[in-house]
Amino acid sequence: MDRRDFLAATSAVAFRVGGRALFPSLAVAAESGAKADFTLRIAPVSVELAPGKVAKTIGYNGTVPGPTLRMQEGISTTIDVFNDTDSDELVHWHGLMVPAEVDGAAEEGTPPVPAHGQRRYTFVPKPAGTRWYHTHNIAGSDLTRGMYSGQFGFLYVEPKSERGSYDHEIFLAIHQWEPSTAVPMGPPNNGLEITYQYATFNGRMLRHGDPVRVRTGEQVLFRLLNASATDDLRIALPGHQFQVAALDGNPVLTPRSVNVLRIGVAERIDAIVEMKQPGTWILGSTSETDRQKGMGIVIEYAGQKGVPQWIAPGPDSWDYGAFGKTQIPIEPDGRFELIFRKIPGERVRFNRWTINGKSFPDTDPLIVQQGKRYRMIFRNESGDTHPLHLHRHSFEITNFAGKLTGGVRKDVVLVNGFSTAEVDFVADNPGLTLFHCHAQLHMDFGFMNLIKYG
Ligand code: C2O
Ligand code: CU
Repeated sequence: MDRRDFLAATSAVAFRVGGRALFPSLAVAAESGAKADFTLRIAPVSVELAPGKVAKTIGYNGTVPGPTLRMQEGISTTIDVFNDTDSDELVHWHGLMVPAEVDGAAEEGTPPVPAHGQRRYTFVPKPAGTRWYHTHNIAGSDLTRGMYSGQFGFLYVEPKSERGSYDHEIFLAIHQWEPSTAVPMGPPNNGLEITYQYATFNGRMLRHGDPVRVRTGEQVLFRLLNASATDDLRIALPGHQFQVAALDGNPVLTPRSVNVLRIGVAERIDAIVEMKQPGTWILGSTSETDRQKGMGIVIEYAGQKGVPQWIAPGPDSWDYGAFGKTQIPIEPDGRFELIFRKIPGERVRFNRWTINGKSFPDTDPLIVQQGKRYRMIFRNESGDTHPLHLHRHSFEITNFAGKLTGGVRKDVVLVNGFSTAEVDFVADNPGLTLFHCHAQLHMDFGFMNLIKYG
């Protein structure tokens, strides 16, 4: 949905498509004086994942994903957030360089949107690109809250300059549903893990939503978001290649074609696919189990019918460095070496996580000076992968798994098990700044820390 549609929809009392309520009645302007550019209403929603399969969750404006918010780079924007639930909520604008007071993280001091209350967020959206918004509540062992819920949506910041060339763009948010605790995998003393019953692209299970309709010869830009609470994914489209154009919304230095996209929790990948294999295909997870749970969407060429095809891709490797260039990074002004370890939950409770031996909130904040450049050295001494996210700043990956790299700017880096990644950032946005593993199961159990400007 674009901004025009969204504004049109907010003025409607109720809006139904195919029997599904897209928007509940919205009483917008009156409650806060001047009309906001956008309104988000946090409220219970029933999501029809497939005929007869309904997930009850909390969402934005009665849909999952929430409306795609299209903002203009550099132009001050207001969003009224109404919270119709019984708990305080936080909306985090993931990937935007905004002040801590509006970033949507309690740890940074953003005030919550009170239960049955409202709050107006005002900020200047930047940088341009594929961003997103989501709840920043802690879930802990309550698997209905935080990112286990339906509280997420795209936020696209339109660049001032011209967009790239493609015929149309498709926003696809991947999510998993009906979580439960599962028999731990990994070492015998490992703690509880999460398993899901269903998975969706844009709220619909594979084969149960509208297909993406394409024509031969088109260049289709897919903007993919992994909005899973916990799982890193691999996505393929048989017979086609993805020309990766942007990572976490930032154009890559070296666009490159791949067969498989690896997308960690909270990451976004913009990839252009040239439609040159007429047929019906499955764009979906390379995991058969996940596809059976619904993780995929049908791509249908005009005039083609039939059973959507899946063909397993060959072995793949994913290296952020491939989208940048090999270079020796500029010496930073300071370095933070951060060692990640797991304290096993011994099969009966959740694992705890430590950064340099301490779990949040008992960690020591990293102190930075405004204008200086810092290197964060992530040493993962656990077997799990961790999508590390830095709030309110972006970083450049300078070393991935021991290989020097440059020119890849992101806000999440997926650090492999027993591996390392190094990222450089400039302290250019004063205020408390959170960084954490974006896996809900990890961030809620210690894997988080703050950066403070000295
Ligand atoms: Cu996407 Cu701390 O958030
Ligand atoms: Cu993690």
